[in-house]
Amino acid sequence: MHDAHATPHAPLLSARGLTKTYGPTTALGGVDLDVRRGEAVAIMGASGSGKTTLLHVLAGIVTPDAGTVTLQARSGARLVNDLREAERSRLRREELGFVFQQGLLLPELTALENAALPLLLAGHPRAAAEAHAAQWLAALGLSGLEDRRIGQLSGGQAQRVAIARAQVTGARVVFADEPTGALDSATSAEVMTALLDATLRQGHALVVVTHDADVAARCTRTIRLRDGRVQAVPAHGASR
Ligand SMILES: Nc1ncnc2c1ncn2[C@@H]1O[C@H](COP(=O)(O)OP(=O)(O)OP(=O)(O)O)[C@@H](O)[C@H]1O
Ligand SMILES: [Mg+2]
Repeated sequence: MHDAHATPHAPLLSARGLTKTYGPTTALGGVDLDVRRGEAVAIMGASGSGKTTLLHVLAGIVTPDAGTVTLQARSGARLVNDLREAERSRLRREELGFVFQQGLLLPELTALENAALPLLLAGHPRAAAEAHAAQWLAALGLSGLEDRRIGQLSGGQAQRVAIARAQVTGARVVFADEPTGALDSATSAEVMTALLDATLRQGHALVVVTHDADVAARCTRTIRLRDGRVQAVPAHGASR
């Protein structure tokens, strides 16, 4: 059951030498990154610098041309890019969480149903899935809104539903791509608080792409991409 390479002190997520080109465009030009338990890493950089590509490669959504991504899954270390697609999507479903700028919530479902969806997809009974999802909604300050459809929520409330959905399976790494990009600054701060609390409190990790310096300032550290390369990585723990 336990992989021989799984070690409790290894980074949750470790990327080495990631490259990805699209025709003449170098989206990633050789990126190394370690993400540890309880760490929030902000990824910044100009439009087109490779942020979303990096997030998608780290999450096993996009396959790199070269390089490796290793995830310490519950069942042991997994080389994400070596897995078959079925295994990769299982890993995404069970170990990773996603929050995007527009939460990609299903408008025809309620807040509770949206939050419970990953558990239902993983085969959990509906009552148990919804009970667990309701706990997450409550933890994110959404008690009483369980039965609203997404269109009946504010932008910040909808993003918190997306955070509940990303957390409900106990995701070890949560990936967020401009999760506050569509929100005003006060709501953005609230959503970031919810995202950091929900993730880091459990010793999980957050990787968040952002253009917002206030969002980055609340993370453990920031990496900057320029033309698909990491510009500067402050020493681990050197910034807060
Ligand atoms: N599927 C694709 N096909 C072709 N080119 C792509 C594709 N995805 C990304 N690119 C190119 O790769 C580069 C990096 O794109 P990426 O989406 O990672 O940038 P980004 O840093 O997330 O930008 P933004 O801040 O605008 O979201 C860009 O030049 C982009 O045009
Ligand atoms: Mg992007």
